[in-house]
Order: sequence, then structure tokens, then C-alpha cells
Amino acid sequence: MALPLPPITLFRDRFGEVRHLMAPMAGISDTVFRSLIREMGAQVVISELLSAEGLVRGGKKTLELMEYSEAERPVGIQIFGHDIKTMSEAARIVQGAGADFVDINFGCPVKKVVCDGGGAAWLKDPVQLGKLLSSMKAVLRIPLTIKVRTGWDEESRNVLEVARVAAESGVSWVAIHGRTRAQGYSGLADWELIRKVAWASSIPIIGNGDLVTAAQAREKLEKGYAHAVMIGRGALKNPWIFRELLGEEPDFNLLKLIDRHFEIAIEKKGAARAYLTLKKFLAWYAAGYPYSSPFRAKIFATHDIDELKNLAVDFFSGISAESRVDDGKPFLMGGHG
Ligand SMILES: Cc1cc2nc3c(=O)[nH]c(=O)nc-3n(C[C@H](O)[C@H](O)[C@H](O)COP(=O)(O)O)c2cc1C
Repeated sequence: MALPLPPITLFRDRFGEVRHLMAPMAGISDTVFRSLIREMGAQVVISELLSAEGLVRGGKKTLELMEYSEAERPVGIQIFGHDIKTMSEAARIVQGAGADFVDINFGCPVKKVVCDGGGAAWLKDPVQLGKLLSSMKAVLRIPLTIKVRTGWDEESRNVLEVARVAAESGVSWVAIHGRTRAQGYSGLADWELIRKVAWASSIPIIGNGDLVTAAQAREKLEKGYAHAVMIGRGALKNPWIFRELLGEEPDFNLLKLIDRHFEIAIEKKGAARAYLTLKKFLAWYAAGYPYSSPFRAKIFATHDIDELKNLAVDFFSGISAESRVDDGKPFLMGGHG
């Protein structure tokens, strides 16, 4: 059981085997960050959750969120919703837009989403979930993947059954965030359960939850916890994590990374919109470094992108990767999956 599991071969011909993916994160995983993180070595990227209804309605904001660039490939578009017909139609739209795969969000714990029957609410009824998967498979030529929680709550941790239904329905992989819906972001991801599912499953299982260093991720792969690992919050604190997983020696040059982030953001969004999103990324990048708190306050007192850039250059040229201390403080303890 301590042997590694084989890697994901779904995109082998065009992109090679997959061992690590960037987790989808709402408000973070837009085309700008996905492009940056692909350059930083992530092998696959996935969009944040998009409303299937919004896609079918042709909502401007939802369609905008579906945009991606060629450099991101392989890129998946994640959708959520409660209605089988609408989800299937949305899958067809994603396919038409040229994405490499469609991912379904079965992990979102947010009340507004689950009360409507979307996200993790599907886990409560694996039979219905199977019907949704078959219906979506019937309209797709590109792969269908899913991202789930371990179950709805402690008493109904049915991820083993959900993974079996997914495999029988022709799904290409199951990414498991190792917490129940009821847990939200509290406690720790249950990697033992992820491992159990991975060894029982006939399709690849991607393990997700709480990996913040390359050593932790590598251990999960080497000890056969999953076929691949998915990293979310850890990549914001340590954007070099994927390069390290590729066996490369990163330069830990945060200033260079930020420079590139500004460049891509301005190119894709224009200075005004780039300014708004870059502020929060700078705050995350600074987490754990000395004087990050006054720096954060200054970020939010800036007025435009030039002021922000100057501030960032001042701050990040004065720090070294070694000066970071992981304060262990909870970091982004909420999200849509
Ligand atoms: C701010 C934020 C937004 C998120 N948005 C999504 C989302 O849109 N879709 C999804 O499947 N998961 C979403 N998640 C969950 C992550 O993909 C991941 O499962 C979770 O953060 C645990 O992994 P980590 O410990 O590596 O961050 C989000 C998480 C956070 C923190």
C-alpha cells in the first residue's frame, strides 16, 4: 500500500503525464492567475465555478469567466448547478468554447449554492448524481471530471460510492477535497480516506487539502495516497510549489513573479481592472513576511496601479524567502469547494 499510484495519463499525448494540478478557487483562478501558475509549473489548471444557468442564459459575467488563453492548456472549466438539463447544456457550451475538459463542482459548501441543490448537495443522492453524469457524458466529446467532498457530513461520508458511480458513468477523474461539506474548512483533510478511495477506484483520484509545501505533496504521491495532488491555498503562499514538484530549483524571486503577474494582468484586463485584483494577491504574497501587516494597510490606501507597483517593488525588494515565517494562522478559511 505504500507504493506510488500511477500518474494521470489523460493528456499524455499533448501535455505529458499529470501529477499535480492547481485547485479551482473563486475570485482567484481567473485567466490571469491560471496563466501565471501554468508558467510556474502547474500541470493542469481549472476555472473557478461558473453557474450553469448563467452560461445557458448567456450572462455576460459568466461568459467572461469562461475565457482562457492557449497557454493555459490543459484548462478545464468548472460548472455548478442543480438541474440536469441545464448542466448538460452548459457542458455543451463549455465544449464549444474549446476547453480541454469540463469539471463539475460537487464540493461547494456555500449555503446559497447547496440550498439550491447545487455543489455538495449532489452528494446526498448518488443515484441522481449518476443520472447527471450520464446525461452530461452523452453530450460531451471532451473529458468530464468531478471535484467532490468526502461526503455531506460525518454520518454520510460516501465518497467511495460517489467515486464508483463516477467511474461507471465514464468520468475521467475524481478530485477529492478531504473534508465533508459540514466541516467547511475546519479540521484537517482526511488523507487516509482519500487513499482508501484511490486504491479502490478504477479511475484516477486526485487528493486535495492542506498541502502547503512540496515535501508534503511529494510524500502523498510517493506513499500512494493519490494518483495526483491538487493544491489551492498553498500555491498562494508558495507559488514555487509546482516548480519544486517538477524537481526544479526555483529562484524564490517574488519580485520577478509579481512583475510577471502585473504584466499578464494588465495585458488581459487593462490597468484599471488589473489594479483591483492585484491588491489582494499582493496581500497574500506578503503573508508571513516581516512587516506584512503595515504593507497590507498601505496596499489598500493606494489609488492606482503605478502607486501599487512602486509600493510592491519597495516591499518585496527588501525581503528574502528565508525571512518568511509560517505563522500557522488560518489562511482563506472559506471557499466554493
Ligand atoms: C477562496 C477559495 C475559493 C474556492 N473556490 C472553489 C471553486 O470555485 N471550486 C472548487 O471546486 N473549489 C473551490 N475552493 C476549494 C479549493 O479548490 C480546495 O478544494 C480547498 O481550498 C482545499 O485545498 P487547499 O487546502 O489546497 O487550499 C475554493 C477555496 C478557496 C480557499
